Amino acid sequence: MAVREILVYPDPRLREVAEPVAEVDDSIRALVEDMAETMYAAPGVGLAANQIGVLKRVFVIDIADEEEPSNLMVFINPEIVDTTGTQTYQEGCLSFPGGSEEIKRAERVRVRALDVNGKPFELEAEGLLAVAIQHENDHLNGVLMIDKLGPLKRRRLGQKIKKARETQADA
Ligand code: NI
Repeated sequence: MAVREILVYPDPRLREVAEPVAEVDDSIRALVEDMAETMYAAPGVGLAANQIGVLKRVFVIDIADEEEPSNLMVFINPEIVDTTGTQTYQEGCLSFPGGSEEIKRAERVRVRALDVNGKPFELEAEGLLAVAIQHENDHLNGVLMIDKLGPLKRRRLGQKIKKARETQADA
């Protein structure tokens, strides 16, 4: 297992579309382990394979509170098959360090995916889990949270990320 480098906006690799996983084998399970370790180290509540430069349709989520036991959820070849309602949530992203914005998404989603054993499952999610699933699924299509914002907020988020990067470079 290894903590991988997380690509940061505006890295063009974040814009690439991930390919479906042909077979859930040991190499995919190793990827999932690295992704989980990278997400927990950051720390973050979700990570898509694109964010570590791997163009495969895989993401991991853990929305458990700090005081709760960890609850890793793995989605391979996910497909959002239904959405209902709307909600607004203050979202962050490991590829946008130092920035978060309110984003409007569906309140509930139904998602189909494969687990780490290649077994299909279907899940209905709402609230934060539904937000995380939509956010990570967007990554697989090269879509980023900044795309969901109007021009003003988009510029503000871009500036925040730039500032955070410069501060880091100075340190
Ligand atoms: Ni993200």
